Amino acid sequence: MSTIKIAVIPGDGIGKEVIPVGMRALEAAGRKHGVEFEWTEFNWSCETYHQTGRMMPEDGIEQLSKFDAIYLGAVGFPGVPDHISLWGLLLPIRRAFDQYVNLRPVRLFEGVPCPLVGKQPGDIDFYVVRENVEGEYSSIGGIQYEGTEHEIVSQQSLFTRRGTDRIIKYAFDLAQSRAKKHLSSATKSNGIYHSMPYWDGRVAEIAQSYPEVNVDQFHIDILTANFVRMPEFFDVVVGSNLFGDILSDLGPACTGTIAIAPSANINPEKTFPSMFEPVHGSAPDIAGQGIANPLGTIWAGAMMMQHLGLPEMHDSLMQAMESVLREAEHLTPDMGGQANTLALGAAVVAAIEHAAIA
Ligand code: NAD
Ligand code: IPM
Ligand code: MN
Repeated sequence: MSTIKIAVIPGDGIGKEVIPVGMRALEAAGRKHGVEFEWTEFNWSCETYHQTGRMMPEDGIEQLSKFDAIYLGAVGFPGVPDHISLWGLLLPIRRAFDQYVNLRPVRLFEGVPCPLVGKQPGDIDFYVVRENVEGEYSSIGGIQYEGTEHEIVSQQSLFTRRGTDRIIKYAFDLAQSRAKKHLSSATKSNGIYHSMPYWDGRVAEIAQSYPEVNVDQFHIDILTANFVRMPEFFDVVVGSNLFGDILSDLGPACTGTIAIAPSANINPEKTFPSMFEPVHGSAPDIAGQGIANPLGTIWAGAMMMQHLGLPEMHDSLMQAMESVLREAEHLTPDMGGQANTLALGAAVVAAIEHAAIA
């Protein structure tokens, strides 16, 4: 029996509803495979901000550094400006722990109605590899002549050679390991003068070390159109922080719901804990109703197991998710069904417990 120490941050809104469901699914898989969880919950959230003026305590990062991984729900809620809540909790964790890879799979599952005509499971199955600690997400810049009609606001993007190369190499390695061996790079080098041509240049140079990988580059505008027009074309898509963010909502939307998609914030060197969360946010419009889809969180839990070297745990969770999705009675409203969060979570637990093999 091995014990895994996980820091749990349910956060805001539906984060508090989906995270317990993810924990129960992980525990069910753990019972099958001799893995125990030691959960330590942190109530850091916008509520904490209202009470203390901070999203997390001053030594929050130090507290998290002692865990094997971090399992997070969502951060941000009306009442606290989003840039304050996110720069107070989620973004500092990604940066402090150098989680420079944000790996976001996009997959169409049997049973989930697809909004794109004629697409079958198997047609949509790719990864968005998002740079996660630099690029357009920066606090460099500011406002001048504030309060006058001459106000100027500037916002600087920052692309380092190290940061650019390591995410591109990660994406090439992933593409190399897959059957199609196809990498698409998202830039906007016709309109953005410095950073985007730089990124294209780094891709071209690094490509020379991966002769088996077929590489192409798209400007982000046509790339978004192509996600909708021909999602089956894509295998691994690499992009900067902002472009990766946008593509990783659009991709899952093409598979029927954003709520199924996971987000693995990875420090590949394992020097620091990695963090696993759904792609979606706190969904204030449905928070408290008990109807949030917990599958993005469960899939994120499966990725956490893969990262921690427990592929059999990952496979149990994925097989359970796939079998549950085949039955319409388990689908939540975002997937066209009527089940609620707890019912879908219970169906996943039951599927794990009754699975013949995994
Ligand atoms: P959102 O992802 O919270 O919601 C977008 C839409 O998708 C809403 O209509 C919502 O009801 C629906 N949705 C999202 N998750 C769902 C689920 N699990 N089941 C069913 N429906 C679901 O995006 P938003 O509205 O732009 O953001 C709301 C808040 O969340 C903001 O404060 C934002 O900054 C924050 N946010 C946080 C994260 C994160 O913590 N990683 C990610 C995205 C947004
Ligand atoms: C995500 C979210 C965050 C991001 C926001 C809330 C800062 O949209 O995880 O995709 O852009 O990284
Ligand atoms: Mn996002």
